[in-house]
Amino acid sequence: MSVPIAVRSRIEELRREIDHHNYHYYVRDDPQVPDAEYDRRWRELQDLETRYPDLISPESPTQRVGGEPLASFAEVEHLVPMLSLENAFDEAELRAFDRRVCERLGYDRVRYLAEPKLDGLAISLIFEGRRLRRAATRGDGRRGEDVTAQVRTIRSVPLRLRGEGWPTLMEVRGEVFLPKTGFTAINARAREEDGKTFANPRNAAAGSLRQLDPKITAQRPLTMFCYGLGAVQDGTPASTHSERLALLKDWGLRTSPELRVLDGIEACIAYHQEIETKRDALDYDIDGVVFKVDSLADQEALGFVARAPRWAIAYKFPAQEALTTVEAVVFNVGRTGAVTPMARLQPVFVGGATVSNATLHNLDEIRRKDIRAGDTVYIRRAGDVIPEVVRILPERRPPGTEPVKLPRSCPDCNSPVVKPAGEAIARCTGGLHCPAQRKETIWHFAARRAMDIEGLGEELIEQLVDRGMLADPADLYTLKEKREQLIDLERMGKKSVANLLTAIEESKSTTLARFIFALGIREVGEATAQALADAFPDWRQLRKIRRVEDLVPQWGVKGVGPETARAVRKFFEDKPAFTPKGAFSDWLVARKIPGVTVNVAAALVDRFETFQALSQAQVDDLEQGIKGVGHKTARAIRRFFEDKPEFTPEGAFSDWLAARKIPGVGTKVAAALVDHFKTFQALSRAQVEDLEYRKESRVPGVGEVVAERIVGFFAERRNRIVIRRLLSAGVHWETPAVPAAAPDQLPLTGKTVVITGTLSRSRDRIKSALQARGAKVTSTVSKQTDYLIAGADPGSKLTKARALGVTLVDEEGLADLLGGD
Ligand code: IVH
Repeated sequence: MSVPIAVRSRIEELRREIDHHNYHYYVRDDPQVPDAEYDRRWRELQDLETRYPDLISPESPTQRVGGEPLASFAEVEHLVPMLSLENAFDEAELRAFDRRVCERLGYDRVRYLAEPKLDGLAISLIFEGRRLRRAATRGDGRRGEDVTAQVRTIRSVPLRLRGEGWPTLMEVRGEVFLPKTGFTAINARAREEDGKTFANPRNAAAGSLRQLDPKITAQRPLTMFCYGLGAVQDGTPASTHSERLALLKDWGLRTSPELRVLDGIEACIAYHQEIETKRDALDYDIDGVVFKVDSLADQEALGFVARAPRWAIAYKFPAQEALTTVEAVVFNVGRTGAVTPMARLQPVFVGGATVSNATLHNLDEIRRKDIRAGDTVYIRRAGDVIPEVVRILPERRPPGTEPVKLPRSCPDCNSPVVKPAGEAIARCTGGLHCPAQRKETIWHFAARRAMDIEGLGEELIEQLVDRGMLADPADLYTLKEKREQLIDLERMGKKSVANLLTAIEESKSTTLARFIFALGIREVGEATAQALADAFPDWRQLRKIRRVEDLVPQWGVKGVGPETARAVRKFFEDKPAFTPKGAFSDWLVARKIPGVTVNVAAALVDRFETFQALSQAQVDDLEQGIKGVGHKTARAIRRFFEDKPEFTPEGAFSDWLAARKIPGVGTKVAAALVDHFKTFQALSRAQVEDLEYRKESRVPGVGEVVAERIVGFFAERRNRIVIRRLLSAGVHWETPAVPAAAPDQLPLTGKTVVITGTLSRSRDRIKSALQARGAKVTSTVSKQTDYLIAGADPGSKLTKARALGVTLVDEEGLADLLGGD
């Protein structure tokens, strides 16, 4: 097929552009065009190559995706062996290295090239002219494995070099590695797919590169930093190692951004420290710093010993990972009440320190990693981060280990420990009296935005708690009896004690909002505390809160939306017949006994009538002349009843309801409806608003979660005791007086009204008319309800109002109530 010249040159142009953008994106980390631009060129090139397959060349950027899987890796020989490095583990060893170099060269200081030592895989690339010809692993240093197909998928490795002046042949040495972010992503995906994760980025990089199928390698975000050359033919003009690396960079190979030329050993020591500080912030694992004599002539003069050059050394960081065993899993309570698990370890030296504890974060994490007492584990200590357990070695687990359980009660105060569903953190409910939470609780209580006790700082609280002078916030108000002890405290003069006691005394006069906030109820911040104070100006009412519904009232039945509510209402308006027989028959069908269809069930109920009779029927009785019941079905029915199934009126009602095919009413909603209304009568009369599930927050910012915290807080007896002591110590606030019997008192002030059924005016209008006269309009009938306004077709509210003796008001009575309006 003949190819137009224009196509040839367009393809070449697109390849050059894509290579250029790849270089800026993957090597320079500095994208030059938006992704969409890049994608457009990519697609155009792909289209042209599909149309003119003869023009596909191995250097085309489209050819990186990975070819056919290999049967095995071929062994190849390096042109120049890949050496290893001598190690220095402390400053003295590094200085000794420098001394030897200086002596041999006869200098008193040497220029070194410095860069981090990457923890990846050593790879050697061969370029012939500009073209990448081969990539090989280090292997034993002389012979490695051919991984050309795999390395070609690494975007930062150019298939063609940029610029000009390349040697006719060169071996480029460098490290292939996986950035930490890529590692996290791969493991997250592996966890979803088959649960087999890599222990660290190095293993993940090795696992990704040593894939016979290069398409898998192509999916892993590997990259490569180049740090040197092996064989070079028709060489480069460089006279130093750093110039060589600069050339590699110009040619489109990636080199370390941390690369530095340093003058003398002191600068090397400073560099090592600098990189060690930076270590955790880098997006790749490093295990030390490599120093190389920069002058190539000096390198040559120094030569090699054994398999390592005399001109280079790796100054290692302390290992960050080590193996040890978990002796026990214990739980600690933090200052905020969080109950966190810790592993007690067989002490081990790691990351430059001896470690005997590691954090286990939370219970979910323990489950995920399946950590148990007795396990052999990898632990990791990076920088100042708390040591953690990376993973266990399942093959070393001794017999008889048990999964870790969350303690039921707080190890410090014995209060119940709760772990709300969907949350990772378990918490002690001890609050105001848990010793572990003492300092935090008191500190919060005294804070400026809470009780505002000036001069009671964190340090002082620490001292007072440690000396047993304070155990909870209420103890603050007894401190005046310990004046002498206070004066004895470090840095507490008479004057500051006097000031502190005055501040404590003054804090007694506060506002309700501050007091609520000061209690330190979880999730109750300043704004919520204020909203609670506004909603409950009378503190006693707030303190009486015992149920979530008191703060977030709910109506209707959970799972019933407005449409389902209307559908249920409509269904009952057609006056369906609910017969015990029908219900029994539906119940039977819902049991899914093989062979028992709707018709068979009806026939069985016709014949046996009661549950009793049917449940005692023998196979013979069942087989006798019931249409559709053969021997097999008869036996199935008999077997079913032998398991003594429970037949309850509610169950039968619920099955009947579910079988009616009301939109939105499945077995679950049917069960919820029956649970709520109990009887057919009650449900059949329920109005839409009795059915539809709604909840309403009575206090802005207080949803169910916050309400649960508040209820939980007041439910703790010891919290109530601390509060009582605070109040009897004299903590008080202004209670806004209720304008009782004010001259402008409205006719319905203080009355609570509920509306139900259909009325001639819209409910909203009636509601506002009532509110305008001072009434409180609510949705549920309770003992507090004064009037129930009942229109046509009233629902269960009427029944309830009658039962509670609430005054009933019809349309006429309503007009009276509103004063003829
Ligand atoms: S130079 C002739 N520089 O460390 C010396 N090596 O023990 C060649 N490594 O497997 C090594 N980062 O792959 C050098 N910046 C760096 C390095 C580095 C990692 C690896 C190298 C080899 C090992 C040497």
